[in-house]
Amino acid sequence: MSPPVIRQLLVDLSTPFALRWNGGDAFTSAFMNALSLSFPAGEQFFLDSVRDGLKQLPAEQQALFRDEVKGFVGQEATHRRLHALFNRHLLDQGMVNHWEQRSLQRIAVISQLDIRHALGATAATEHYTAVFAHWLLANPRFFEHAEPRLKTLWLWHASEESEHRCTAFDLYRALGGNEEWRLRWMRRVSWFFLTDLLRQTVNNLWHDGSLFKLSTWSSAWKHLFARGGLFRESFSLWRDYFKPGFHPSQHPDLLSQQWLQQHANAYAPVAQVA
Ligand SMILES: [Fe+2]
Ligand SMILES: [Fe+2]
Repeated sequence: MSPPVIRQLLVDLSTPFALRWNGGDAFTSAFMNALSLSFPAGEQFFLDSVRDGLKQLPAEQQALFRDEVKGFVGQEATHRRLHALFNRHLLDQGMVNHWEQRSLQRIAVISQLDIRHALGATAATEHYTAVFAHWLLANPRFFEHAEPRLKTLWLWHASEESEHRCTAFDLYRALGGNEEWRLRWMRRVSWFFLTDLLRQTVNNLWHDGSLFKLSTWSSAWKHLFARGGLFRESFSLWRDYFKPGFHPSQHPDLLSQQWLQQHANAYAPVAQVA
């Protein structure tokens, strides 16, 4: 597999946008806004884990992973920088980032442990992002009425998540991470990730004044649980992580490659890692 390509996204994020940028839909906008609020702290943790993991490999193995890690770190650093700009507009409109504080507290604890714990947590979270990315790329109607530049931001990010979905997992394995802890971390990450996502989404809706509207929760049902919805459609891909011998490369990334090919004018590769 070729190493991840670092790309500069040619999208203007300096101009403000409406809180309900996804076609005026309060729920889907608040849900995506919640995810974005988690990214700067989360993606810093992922790239730190992968970079620190690389340093702990024997020298000959480091050479095998160096380009892969460079691509991963460059992609996540770009994502966190752009989502920090995105988040600035959310905070300016009264959103409050509670998720970040909770993440930072947990990261402080994990960072005291053997690096394989950080990599196990990163690999589990990267499975979430890869599965979600696949759903976004497979369901173009989700962003049908979104502000175009934000749709490009999300689908570019989704494509790169799919592209680098194996990096943390492979490093975890290379450092001797075992199956028991791999699954343990998936269970822990699932609890924290899903409860944090729910709490931040509800908080966003509260600040947006749409928490108690029927239209908000009918949109939640339609986009998450109804036929074709995120959770319903993605459950089996998510569950694959628990199969013995699972590897992220078993999930196809054709949609990601297609999106990147068809939207080459939306970005400029800044480093083709040789
Ligand atoms: Fe990312
Ligand atoms: Fe990622």
